[in-house]
Amino acid sequence: MSVFNSLREYAQAMERQGKLLRIPDMDQDQFEMTAFSYRLEDRMRTSAPAFLVERTKMNGRWYDTPVICNVLNSFKTVAMCLGVEDLSDDEREMNQVVERELLKHMNEDYRFEQIPPVEVDGAAAPCKEVKLFGDDADLDRFPWIMNNPADGGRFISTGSVIMEDPEIGRNVGTYRLQVKGPQKLGICFTGQNHGAQMMRKAIAQGKKSVPCVVATGLDPITWMMSSTRVGELGDDEFAFSGGFRGEPVELVRAETNALMAPAHAEIVIEGEISTDKEMEGPYGEMLGYIGEPAPNHFMTVKAITHREKPWVYNIWPGIGGAYLTWPWQVGHFARLKRIMPNLVKLHMPPEIPSMVIACINKRLPGEGIEAGLLIMGYRMIGFSKKMIIILDKDVDPTDITRVLHAVTTRWQPWPASLTVRQTFSFMIDPSTQRNALSSKILIDATRQLPAEGGPNVFAEDNRTVMEERAADSFKLVDERWDEYFGG
Ligand SMILES: Cc1cc2nc3c(=O)[nH]c(=O)nc-3n(C[C@H](O)[C@H](O)[C@H](O)COP(=O)(O)O)c2cc1C
Repeated sequence: MSVFNSLREYAQAMERQGKLLRIPDMDQDQFEMTAFSYRLEDRMRTSAPAFLVERTKMNGRWYDTPVICNVLNSFKTVAMCLGVEDLSDDEREMNQVVERELLKHMNEDYRFEQIPPVEVDGAAAPCKEVKLFGDDADLDRFPWIMNNPADGGRFISTGSVIMEDPEIGRNVGTYRLQVKGPQKLGICFTGQNHGAQMMRKAIAQGKKSVPCVVATGLDPITWMMSSTRVGELGDDEFAFSGGFRGEPVELVRAETNALMAPAHAEIVIEGEISTDKEMEGPYGEMLGYIGEPAPNHFMTVKAITHREKPWVYNIWPGIGGAYLTWPWQVGHFARLKRIMPNLVKLHMPPEIPSMVIACINKRLPGEGIEAGLLIMGYRMIGFSKKMIIILDKDVDPTDITRVLHAVTTRWQPWPASLTVRQTFSFMIDPSTQRNALSSKILIDATRQLPAEGGPNVFAEDNRTVMEERAADSFKLVDERWDEYFGG
């Protein structure tokens, strides 16, 4: 299996496939990159290319530092990062391939494999090509992007925050960082994340600050591991990255503290996180709404190291981020299946937050509602999902049109629904009082059996009949597909 060791190697592979668009310049003071990202979503979605902007105007200044965006925006791109060679533009097929690949790395204890990282010498580390200290370690040297006119300023949107505690171990987590001054960054630790837990421990011990390193522009698998919950507090995300990569991540020692960062990162920022707090935000959040400013910790920068002519990697919350979290989703599917043998598929559409769709092999009355309750009560998924849709196994949950077709034709809102109040939820859901509580709805859109108030005989679904009784017809069409189009 060949894996990418750096963001650049991955970008080169994208370019070889014609999936990297080079743009000479963009004026982000006019939010040109943001509008371009939305238009790529509107017009091309998962077939949109990554784009690399050679010169960017930000805060009235033209920067020659390239900015790369839209890097992981489809199951095909995730499959490519996992080393899959037989790639296709059929996203449904790629979704299945990605899930199979991820599950290969799970052991019998439902834990992902780990290969510990290795330390390399600074001389062999591209992220040490340039070293900046004191006033030279100036965040304004780089075109960090202000994504939205309502944002509180510029943010580092792809920073992997690395911290270590002698008892807990290392933690690597993607937390947004607000550029507050040449040597100052605000950090958005939400309450449940492992970084926040480390900060709470430091506060309880009376510490004034915690050493930290922020690495950005990482190889795609390490970046995914930093961005999604694959382990428990104390598990090393770099070791999970090694597990998926099949080879260890190379780390290099920081200049001003004992922490280590990926040697192939584009930019590494070293410093101390204060146990005090200041206001951070507002920011256009991942659910697609502008979040409110809130008190949070901040970091004082001590040094910056980077590659020659580094790249800034930027991400627009709500666009593409969900592909990064697929290992989380697949891991929980496997764990849920242990207690739900009738669970066939589980899908959380990347483009629709707060919704989970599960397909079950239903045989008995009540199984739909029961499945929904189990998923809702499984906190790791249930907490962030307000709408739980249960379907029969013949529906493809990745096809939202088919999902809604099944809901609108197989579902009776009464009695096949259940709402619950006051359950744990995402604090950033704009429809809540932001007190971490939400109501939730369970939609049982499985074919209702007579005992559940359904019809004596449920009408057959045209397409399912085709798939079950004329399966070879689809094979025939697939085989002749190119021929129909003159190929
Ligand atoms: C682009 C992106 C930005 C994120 N920003 C934040 C953030 O600002 N704060 C946060 O707590 N989690 C954020 N997350 C989610 C965390 O990275 C994720 O939950 C991760 O598992 C946290 O690491 P931890 O489990 O070690 O705490 C973000 C994820 C992505 C993909």
